[in-house]
Amino acid sequence: MCGIAGYIGDRNAPEILFDMLKRLEYRGYDSAGIACISDQGVTVFKDKGKVDEVRGKVDCEKILSKTGIAHTRWATHGEPSEYNAHPHSDCTGRFIVAHNGIIENYKDLRAGLTGRGHKFESETDTEVIPHLIEELYTESFEAAFREALKKLRGSFAIVAISTLEPDKILIARKDSPLIVGLGNGENFIASDTPAILPNTKKILILDDFDYGVVTKNSVAIKDIQTGDELKKKVQTIQWNIKQAEKEGYPHFMLKEIFEEPEAVKNAIKALKGVEDIAKKLTRYKRIYFVACGTASYAGLMGKYLLERFSIPSDAVSASEFRYSTINTIDSDCAIIAVSQSGETADTIASVKKAKDKGAYILSIVNVLGSTLTRISDDNIYTYSGPEIAVASTKAYLGQMTSITVLGLYLAREFGKIDGDYVNEIIDDISNLPGKIQQILSNEDEIKELARKLSDKDIFFYIGRRLNYPTALEGALKIKEISYVHAEAYPAGELKHGPLALLEKGVPVVAINPNDDLLEKMDSNIQEARARNAIILVVGENGDLKTPMIDPLLSPILYVVPLHLFAYYISVFKGLDPDKPRNLAKSVTVE
Ligand code: M6R
Repeated sequence: MCGIAGYIGDRNAPEILFDMLKRLEYRGYDSAGIACISDQGVTVFKDKGKVDEVRGKVDCEKILSKTGIAHTRWATHGEPSEYNAHPHSDCTGRFIVAHNGIIENYKDLRAGLTGRGHKFESETDTEVIPHLIEELYTESFEAAFREALKKLRGSFAIVAISTLEPDKILIARKDSPLIVGLGNGENFIASDTPAILPNTKKILILDDFDYGVVTKNSVAIKDIQTGDELKKKVQTIQWNIKQAEKEGYPHFMLKEIFEEPEAVKNAIKALKGVEDIAKKLTRYKRIYFVACGTASYAGLMGKYLLERFSIPSDAVSASEFRYSTINTIDSDCAIIAVSQSGETADTIASVKKAKDKGAYILSIVNVLGSTLTRISDDNIYTYSGPEIAVASTKAYLGQMTSITVLGLYLAREFGKIDGDYVNEIIDDISNLPGKIQQILSNEDEIKELARKLSDKDIFFYIGRRLNYPTALEGALKIKEISYVHAEAYPAGELKHGPLALLEKGVPVVAINPNDDLLEKMDSNIQEARARNAIILVVGENGDLKTPMIDPLLSPILYVVPLHLFAYYISVFKGLDPDKPRNLAKSVTVE
């Protein structure tokens, strides 16, 4: 949800800032802007549109600036427009701010500031920040900034500059991610690591209630309340620059689907500590998987897997968990939070609340050093590499692999499964990357199927037990990147209502593993076929063919053709699958 960036050094700031924004564009792309300080004062350029569209209107070389801030927006308050785009200034143009998050008390602050003569130019919550700084300024930019921060409620990652002290960028964080990339004689500020990867791998991560003063040669991180300087460990980013680039693929989404074999391999490599974590989990009476979107389907698969071994568990969307399920949580509960980014607001809030109630927190996360990893008791990293496309694909396979291994070890700890069988399945998991590769080599067939069905305006996905989440994931992918209505149902539910919508030509995708419910699924497929629906079976003998696999592992494999299928539906519709309308990759607001 919005990407923010800052640069201070000796190079042309506008060029660097637009490059950084481009790498943060997955966080929001309805408008963009930069503010740079130069001898001529401050230059602010912002407009509606994607980063490249806005960049195309600016002659970066003419802006002789070495210090600036930037923003790519996902609108929360106020429609996408030039005047609502960041950065925002105070009345005098001396204080300029870009912000990611939501200032919840902005209405009160704005009313107070308006009463004192401040003039606002946008509908955003953010604009109160530069006006607050203006109001509180006496002789120090830093002091006014810090006092302003104390008045804000809600979430923020902020970068701010001032014409009065052009040699620094001030930054702050609460509940929205922010890092500083450390260079030689230059420093970078960003919402996320891909933005700084071409320039440095050394970073400082801000925690909630930290603020900082960044110059070209120094970074001081301090506590908002006390103003005391804090010691921060310099961390090294493990990703490389190539991983965050398209490398010849037309879209990040396609590249990331083709990285799914690697994602499974990496998740297995990283699973050393999982046996110990499984032992720990046996202490808890109930296990909850908590997550959002695609990650929540990985969690739901985990619930079905544990139930398969009679281990009580549940999977709850984080946006519901934090306000409802939380009332039932105590120290007998274990929470397994699942997240690619580790920055999803609802997931983090759920974890914080559950932690306050004494629950044990395990997180399954892709991004190292993310907020979720720092508030959990234990972490399992999926090491899927950077996932840039808004639609999650390879990260889902990483999550499913980690959850499956964890579930199997846990079942073994509880004595619900034979140790030899566990070893056998773990061996099978190491064969998964090859099997996924086999599916990917059928790309042309899947593409052709997508071409034929790309004019459909409704899709149904059905599955049972472990593959009901696969159906949900298949439907979500179609919805989010093709804007086509897609519904997923447990196959047995079809006849309780949705069957009424089936008629000639409606596509029904049936996830049909070779397990003890194969015949039941076949009956459900017949029910749909009898209504002249177009049936696409995913399975060993299906239309979307999958290699033979132990049914327990089928969800990891069967989702692969669904990802490719959704990708090509979007492409045949002439859409950009990497940047679906109205969405952003990291949902850091509630
Ligand atoms: O970073 P997270 O895994 O916590 O993100 C959760 C969801 O926002 C995410 O999976 C979203 O649903 C994707 N756009 C789905 O493709």
